[in-house]
Amino acid sequence: KKGNYDHFMQKEIHEQPHSLTTTMRGRLRDNDVVLGGLKDHLKTIRHSRRIIFIGCGTSYNAALAARPFMEELSGIPVTLELASDLLDRQGAMYREDTAVFVSQSGETADTLLALEYALENGALCVGITNTVGSTLARKTHCGVHINAGCEIGVASTKAYTSQIVVMVMMALAIGADKISTQSKREAIINALPDLPNKVSEVLKLDNEMKDLAESLIEAQSLFVFGRGYNYATALEGALKVKEVALMHSEGMLAGEMKHGPLALVDETLPIIVIATHDACFSKQQSVIQQLHARNGRLIVMCSKGDASSVCPSGSCRVIEVPQVADCLQPVINIVPLQLLAYHLTVLRGYDVDQPRNLAKSVTTQ
Ligand code: UD1
Ligand code: F6R
Repeated sequence: KKGNYDHFMQKEIHEQPHSLTTTMRGRLRDNDVVLGGLKDHLKTIRHSRRIIFIGCGTSYNAALAARPFMEELSGIPVTLELASDLLDRQGAMYREDTAVFVSQSGETADTLLALEYALENGALCVGITNTVGSTLARKTHCGVHINAGCEIGVASTKAYTSQIVVMVMMALAIGADKISTQSKREAIINALPDLPNKVSEVLKLDNEMKDLAESLIEAQSLFVFGRGYNYATALEGALKVKEVALMHSEGMLAGEMKHGPLALVDETLPIIVIATHDACFSKQQSVIQQLHARNGRLIVMCSKGDASSVCPSGSCRVIEVPQVADCLQPVINIVPLQLLAYHLTVLRGYDVDQPRNLAKSVTTQ
């Protein structure tokens, strides 16, 4: 089943052009998005007071990636909840809320308990899952299957990118009647069919990421700084590195850097800064300058052609990725980090598909 690949995680990373194609299949039509599972509920969602995304781990990170464009395209306030934290707090939830549950397996105990809680509180409950017939799919009022194909590696990779694309399509469907974002909406719909080709392009960085992994084998720790559309990319990249390569790694909001993490920066700590071209670009350029001034060991991810403007002195390592519409950029930017985590794991001699202490689906609280 692994074909030409050594591990399922590797296969699933390289499969993403295909899994994204199946996620979008039959759902993009004549400048429009059609999600069969949501179409009868769009009116209720548009009238809701708030959209709350709920999930754990990678699925939470996918929702974090979705928040900026969901807010922008729907005009509805969007909040995020880690399922366990919502339950610990018994957080506020109302009939006027739309609660969106994101889960690859559809069987994660914390997420399902949060679903019970939302149902009791009368919210409209929407599922986003990869598993037809899962408890999540059965118990939600409506939802969308991400159709990424079976994911076997414990570290979630192709489900993450398909979840983001489903949430982009969902935002486009919810915001369909909003005049002010019409041109942005059309630009995204036109860009979506080409996204799998852009993912194929970024997968060509495989050898470069192996090289980078070799230079990081001995590192104690790896930081990843992102912001805006790519705050989630930083958290998700760091989660991949810690869970499979068993290396301490932290993803951080770059805007928080000077409020604490900067104290840790020296010439030994490798830091990946995500600085692809979007509205936050100039802020990331100044973060790079500040880290540079403290002799940080910098690895900068930037849009193709931007290498000299992110790293004028040529003193940092650069990962150049294809540029796409800003809300789709997280789908591209996570790929080199998935490859990096994979190669680091192999080089460090750990089990890629079955990381220590972890299970594919966490069915206990
Ligand atoms: C559906 C069919 C698909 C077919 C297509 C043709 C299924 C599973 N999908 O896809 O095979 O090609 O019509 O038009 O038979 N749902 C939930 N909670 C969830 C996920 C989904 O309630 O977490 C519900 C949806 O509201 C919907 C149904 O499950 O009623 C199927 O969802 P989805 O597969 O996303 O719908 P389509 O893309 O229309
Ligand atoms: C990370 C990972 C976990 C899951 C989390 C939620 O690679 O796989 O963090 O994302 O356990 O699982 P699902 O999405 O099945 O609810």
